[in-house]
Amino acid sequence: MLDACVFVIFGSTGHLSRTKLLPALYRLHQSGRLPDNFAVVGLGRRPWDHDHWRAEVSQWLRARLGDDLDRRALETFLPRLQFLPSDLNDPASAPRLRELLETAPDLPPNYVFYLSLPPSEYKLAAAYLASAGLNLETGGWRRLVVEKPFGYDLEGARALDHALHRDFAEHQIFRIDHYLGKETVQNIFVFRFANLMLEPLWNRNFIDHVQITHSESAGIEDRAQFYDGTGALRDMIQSHLLQMLALAAMEPPASLDAESIRDEKVKVLKSIRPIPKSAVHAHAFRAQYTRGTVAGRVVPGYLEELGIPKHSTTETYAAVKLLIDNWRWRNVPFFLRTGKRMAQDSSLIAIRFKHPPQQLFRETQIEQLPPNWLLLGIQPTQCIRAELQVREPGIGMRARTTQLDASTCYQAGYRIDAYDALLLDVIEADRSQFLRSDEVQWAWRVVDPIIKEWSMERDYIHTYPAGSWGPGEADRLFEREDQRWRHSFESEPSP
Ligand code: BG6
Repeated sequence: MLDACVFVIFGSTGHLSRTKLLPALYRLHQSGRLPDNFAVVGLGRRPWDHDHWRAEVSQWLRARLGDDLDRRALETFLPRLQFLPSDLNDPASAPRLRELLETAPDLPPNYVFYLSLPPSEYKLAAAYLASAGLNLETGGWRRLVVEKPFGYDLEGARALDHALHRDFAEHQIFRIDHYLGKETVQNIFVFRFANLMLEPLWNRNFIDHVQITHSESAGIEDRAQFYDGTGALRDMIQSHLLQMLALAAMEPPASLDAESIRDEKVKVLKSIRPIPKSAVHAHAFRAQYTRGTVAGRVVPGYLEELGIPKHSTTETYAAVKLLIDNWRWRNVPFFLRTGKRMAQDSSLIAIRFKHPPQQLFRETQIEQLPPNWLLLGIQPTQCIRAELQVREPGIGMRARTTQLDASTCYQAGYRIDAYDALLLDVIEADRSQFLRSDEVQWAWRVVDPIIKEWSMERDYIHTYPAGSWGPGEADRLFEREDQRWRHSFESEPSP
């Protein structure tokens, strides 16, 4: 049974709240997963009252969910919402929140505080709550959910942790990385550890390299201020892509409890070979999109986006090569790549196997045997696929690639959104899909040398036209001619 609680959203009128949190809460409500007197309190600077907020939320949900919005479920969801105008800098504001929580009829005594705020305001929000005693677990529990990025670099992450721990204990802090809630990301874990068949192959003896790609056709949308101060490396690689790497590379945990899983992920992150300053260019590449065509529509370049400074060198594309110095992975490169305004939306882990040790078919019509690939599609295609070589029927010795799909393959539309699952985990206090503070710090250690180097190179950045697969120069990260980006689930490796 879930504890009834109040879900308080800081920054409730912002992008994340509109596009992810409120739709997730609505879906949980619609599917009957929320406790009876669960309530949502939106905080924001706008002078709105409850009715105004409810009207706004119903518009956002309509825009986001379209035909999936059920009118009757919406009617019962909206009364759960309340809005409180608030200002983190106003000392009178936090006591007003406390008063609302304690005096409004029927509100349960447990609170989730979700910081859907610019990261620069996390400390302020924690102090704001503490100023009214809302961090203290008297009469009920208090949980603080913090969105990524946790800090802007290792030092910032440490300082943030220090500040949060002043008022909140570690068990109260939930560092969310919504990729961990995605079905196929969770499936990596089951696929690896519920199948004995793969284990003997899952190492440097058989795997040539691993690619983890997240490409988006969308640009920065209305997040210019956030994005220009963040960039692709911090926004995606330090968090989501390193988490996928950790899941793909970790050893089996001792058990399924949160600490055992997080211990193993930390071990992987700790084993990533530090990139020395002199090797940053060999290990990392960045670029920015220029005007181009996406889905038949001409879209502006990054520097033409509203709110982006004219000479910004913030990267919208980042690719890195990482090596994991442990017994399993020594000398197997992991290539991580992400970009906005790319040719397609695709999140994919592509594992390329080595060639067989003997060139047995050299003297036949099979001139070049493609290697085996194992593809773990995260989105939009959620699928696990192995590519194998089989003989082409007919006379002579020819081969072709055949695909073995896991039977769970399905296209588009998520059965359950990552946020739906993770918000329930917060309420259930299941921490296994949330990040521990040392995990976050180890991830920063991986990208910090790159951040430092790039921050000094403010005059020039490579570019790529919107709608493309990024600049060809990114290929320089590869170690051999036959290593190429595997762009998406369907496509063959690019020539
Ligand atoms: C967010 C990033 O964490 O993840 C965004 O800040 C990115 O820039 C998003 O677009 C991608 O998430 P999803 O679930 O849409 O793939």
